[in-house]
Amino acid sequence: MDKITLTFLTIIFFFAKASSKPLPASSNDAASRADGICRAMVEVQNYPCREHEVKTRDGFIVSVQNIPYGRSGKTPGERPPVLLQHGLSMDAITWLLSPPDQSLALLLAENGFDVWLVSTRGTKYSLSHTSLTPDDAAYWDWSWDELVEYELPAMFQYVYEQTGQKLHYVGHSMGTLIALAAFSKGELVNMLRSAAMLCPIAYVGHVTSPIARTGAEILLAEISQWLKIPEFNPKGEDVIKLLLNICMDKSVDCIHLLTSLTGQNCCLNSSIISVFLRHEPQSTSTKNMIHFAQMMRDGTIKMYDYEDEKENRKRYGRPSPPSYNMSNIPNNIPLFLAHGGTDALSVSADVKLLLDSLKGHRKDKLVVEYREDYGHADYVMAINARQSVYDPLIAFFKLH
Ligand SMILES: *[C@@H]1O[C@H](CO)[C@@H](O)[C@H](O)[C@H]1NC(C)=O
Ligand SMILES: *[C@@H]1O[C@H](CO)[C@@H](O)[C@H](O)[C@H]1NC(C)=O
Repeated sequence: MDKITLTFLTIIFFFAKASSKPLPASSNDAASRADGICRAMVEVQNYPCREHEVKTRDGFIVSVQNIPYGRSGKTPGERPPVLLQHGLSMDAITWLLSPPDQSLALLLAENGFDVWLVSTRGTKYSLSHTSLTPDDAAYWDWSWDELVEYELPAMFQYVYEQTGQKLHYVGHSMGTLIALAAFSKGELVNMLRSAAMLCPIAYVGHVTSPIARTGAEILLAEISQWLKIPEFNPKGEDVIKLLLNICMDKSVDCIHLLTSLTGQNCCLNSSIISVFLRHEPQSTSTKNMIHFAQMMRDGTIKMYDYEDEKENRKRYGRPSPPSYNMSNIPNNIPLFLAHGGTDALSVSADVKLLLDSLKGHRKDKLVVEYREDYGHADYVMAINARQSVYDPLIAFFKLH
């Protein structure tokens, strides 16, 4: 078999497997509870879990799970809430992929925290909206700007009201970007105890991932064409075509698709890849993908660029989109930043830019954990993530 054939087969295999479980249509409440994440991933491990739904100001109905305590029961004293926010193309199952004694969500519950998981709009369990369905183009008319403005604040507010306590936060990848962006505007910090950022994404001008770079170029070359396909579904035909184009470029080794996307991951158990493929990847909006592509092109952190002065003026009252300024993150927020040396999406050169803008941060409030051999997926799936990331993270939360 030649390389192209093998590549082709690998992709078909990758996505055929990923899509073997059909996406439910926008499910009604009862159905989504019956086969929600609690039932599928948490209760089977004998952890308590409750399904919640949270409405955002822009009408999305977001699925949230609460794991109030661990298998060993309620610990005495207060149980501080922790909100976990996954990254791009993922959902809350991100935090439940590993066996129970190594999954961050369950470890936190076992360690006396009240755990709350979010699945961002457009993912399998969060397809409802007050007036739109995923078949409407308008349903997908958002980028991460709207997650900063509407979705994340709704999640913070909900958990804050339910528990009456300030939150700890854990973000992975895009989950770090939306929180950093909100903090940079001085938002959410009144409800925050501390935040852990795994694979921080802010600046992305140095991304080395061949798939991400080539994908971004293709998206930007034909923005208006791509926006006619408002849902970016990694299991869909159009995306497979994009991937095939990428893989025809011989600098990209699609035989190791995940490596090509995330960078070399040191410590994945091959059996976790199949767990991953049973649940992920998930849809996002094409507009969101274009927003990331613009950030990779420009090396800046700006709001979505309509690539048209008139359109930008209409939305922002100025010819180019406003920036998020990471230097404005309040310098007394306890921050735990963990990044890896082989990560091709949260690359060291970009993390350095973020750290440069945090140079006014109080030294006693900023912890940076670097692991040379970790890639983007290791932070949520590595067999040794507990020792190398989660134990230090939990110790950090207990201090604050
Ligand atoms: C890999 O995962 C399987 C199934 O969960 C488990 O039996 C095995 O011990 C794991 N291997 C390592 C090295 O953790
Ligand atoms: C960001 O804010 C800092 C301090 O608040 C300021 O010095 C800097 O010029 C700002 N950067 C941009 C690009 O606006």
